[in-house]
Amino acid sequence: MAAAATTARANANLALVKYWGKRDPALNLPATGSISLTLDGLAVEASIAFGAGEADRFEIDGEPARGDEAARLGRFLDVVRETTGRRERAFVSTRATVPRGIGLASSAAAFAALALAGSRAAGMELDPTALSVLARRGSGSAARSVFGGFVEWRRGERADGRDSFAEPLAAPDHWDVRVVVAVTSTAPKAVSSRDGMARASTSPFYPAWIAGVEADLAEARAAIRARDLAALGLVAERSALAMHAIGLAARPPLLYWVGATVDCLRRVWELRTGGTPAFATIDAGPQVKVLCAPADAGLVADALRTVPGVARVLTCVPGRGAEVVA
Ligand code: DP6
Repeated sequence: MAAAATTARANANLALVKYWGKRDPALNLPATGSISLTLDGLAVEASIAFGAGEADRFEIDGEPARGDEAARLGRFLDVVRETTGRRERAFVSTRATVPRGIGLASSAAAFAALALAGSRAAGMELDPTALSVLARRGSGSAARSVFGGFVEWRRGERADGRDSFAEPLAAPDHWDVRVVVAVTSTAPKAVSSRDGMARASTSPFYPAWIAGVEADLAEARAAIRARDLAALGLVAERSALAMHAIGLAARPPLLYWVGATVDCLRRVWELRTGGTPAFATIDAGPQVKVLCAPADAGLVADALRTVPGVARVLTCVPGRGAEVVA
């Protein structure tokens, strides 16, 4: 008989010191550590029910999952079964609460929610560390979305990945900051993070980037502790630009930006010249995310809204970690 579904919700997170490159692609073991901020509202709800039929079934936003997406969910469900010892087939569904078609639906939120829903549905209460290890298997950055607020994912040393998990650095209420997101393109991502990272190793800049990450992590940790916006913003901007520079020098080259991405970046630098502390970061896509103080968020949003090609602007606050909702 089919068990009742367990549903969990997790928020997306914004990397301030980026995860870019894997030392083990099968286990999503990162080449370096990374630091992020979990963002309220960019959430995914995931439900899993074991014993729900003869075959696994997957649904995304109310539609049957197909192709690569179904295969990825299937591989993750196998990891949940391997972790929990539960064997039956399952019905798995995910639903993003993020406005659709703006390129912000996040695998980090989805796999953090799936890890929590799946382990609970299988009758297991994993501790946060084990949950982060499980979420990491679905998507590296999902290891961080298990927790709220400021989070560090430690690289770890072990080949089996048991020491590669995230930990909270500071709770969401430690520091009230804003992240203003400028949506510059709603087209689907051309090159996935996974494929982009695989290409990074062809870039002559990659070894230099790896060599600099430890210093960036130390600076970011200290800035978060001291609630020093300029210090954190500068390290976040530097980490993002270095990550994208790796792609420019990769073979073949990789560029996630559109014209409006560059224009938003310049607008942020103009704001700074004019005395507003605002700092840009960009992930494996063309959207620009700007870290600033709550009092400046309106000004930053207005400035980005007037950049030609910006389709939409939204403002996020620090968010909570993954939680069971039903
Ligand atoms: C640029 O976690 O999506 O957002 O582990 O292959 O699923 P996989 O990659 P993913 O990569 C995120 C890359 C990034 C930087 C970051 O979140 O740290």
